Amino acid sequence: MRTQIAIIGAGPAGLFLGHLLHKAGIEVTILERKDRAYVEGRVRAGVLEQGTTNLMKQLGVDARLKKEGLVHTSTNLAYDGEIFRINMAELTGGSTVTVYGQQEVMRDLFDAAAERGIKIIFDAGDVTLHEIESDHPFVTYKKDESEERLDCDYIVGCDGYHGVSRGAIPASAYTAFERVYPFGWLGILADVPPVNHELIYANHANGFALASMRSPTRSRYYIQCSVDEKIEDWPDERFWDEVCLRLGPEGSHNLVRGPSFEKTIAPLRSFVGEPMRFGRLFLAGDAAHIVPPTGAKGLNLAVSDVTILGEAFAEFYNLGSPKGLEGYSARALKRVWKAERFSWWFTSIMHRFPNTEAFDRKMQIAELSYLKTSRAAQTTLAENYVGLPIE
Ligand code: FAD
Ligand code: DHB
Repeated sequence: MRTQIAIIGAGPAGLFLGHLLHKAGIEVTILERKDRAYVEGRVRAGVLEQGTTNLMKQLGVDARLKKEGLVHTSTNLAYDGEIFRINMAELTGGSTVTVYGQQEVMRDLFDAAAERGIKIIFDAGDVTLHEIESDHPFVTYKKDESEERLDCDYIVGCDGYHGVSRGAIPASAYTAFERVYPFGWLGILADVPPVNHELIYANHANGFALASMRSPTRSRYYIQCSVDEKIEDWPDERFWDEVCLRLGPEGSHNLVRGPSFEKTIAPLRSFVGEPMRFGRLFLAGDAAHIVPPTGAKGLNLAVSDVTILGEAFAEFYNLGSPKGLEGYSARALKRVWKAERFSWWFTSIMHRFPNTEAFDRKMQIAELSYLKTSRAAQTTLAENYVGLPIE
């Protein structure tokens, strides 16, 4: 089999890129290790930047987003029993974010891919990259017990943090930068109305909490927990008690409890690997970098990577210029590092760090108190939260 671009992974990065390239008249084949139901079933991100919703519109996959997406102009921070609101739209000249779950985004992208004939091979096992330093790279994989080979011009690794693509770059040509945080997020979904019509991020002496949502009838809550915590130790009642405590009396007085139907723990990590291109292999999304979820940047960063890469491939195939491809890594990394900075900073001021001193908590409170009253500080948060431009 032959294709122009082989994409490894049908998560947000792989599917958005598939759509962008298909629209530019470039042939793609997407290889995905799991099946569609598995990819679509993963409960992950919930907040889309304007750049992400714009791309959905541009690709014509925004029909449900327009109807069901919840546009948020403001967000809220809570600490020491106080809550304050940051009006992001006012501070950024009108930018907003939209609450629309990653599962919904994936459903829209898969439906449109099927309609448009974008080729996705599910259940592709043992995906292996070959000869990425040559001008004839190829990918081998197993499908229904038979060995397959896919020849291509370029390979794009969109296979997430645990994928195989990143490992195809020789260690001598690659530098990894990493910070692992000594805690995780325990997240639940429940069919109860959200406690507030906007998100609340809370810093409590017991640790971080976040009140989010998926719809007017579905809530998403997170609390910071230790990485070795067991789900079984968090029956719903214990979770609700803790989330109410951390949100504070004002943040939780409307909170409606109900049975959770999803409960998982995710570790927190910052990671960037450089460069994002080696030979005929490009990396995009979580395959290239990870942010802690505090600023809701992970999915949006995958989208800005593939926006840059999609433009570069279109320039190459349709205008004959390799410039965009040559500059991809540097251009993408510029935005990646800024999102890393924001996610690291927001994580740092909102979480309880074990083995830190009373002084560190005082610094967090001072930072939040400054944010509460300073328009300059709020503007900095707002412009990062709604998403920085691609330079
Ligand atoms: P992924 O979504 O990881 O997709 C990669 C795809 O590649 C997957 O479908 C995988 O099956 C496939 N794949 C992997 N290996 C192979 C292989 N060898 N061969 C073929 N296919 C392969 N972000 C937020 O903004 N907010 C959140 O609340 C949030 N929560 C998260 C919770 C968890 C547990 C995780 C892991 C991430 C979370 N994120 C969150 C981050 C966000 O979901 C990711 O940044 C986003 O999914 C990145 O998209 P991606 O396409 O780069 O990678
Ligand atoms: C959600 C996740 C985040 O990481 C975040 O910062 C805001 C919202 C969510 O899943 O709803």
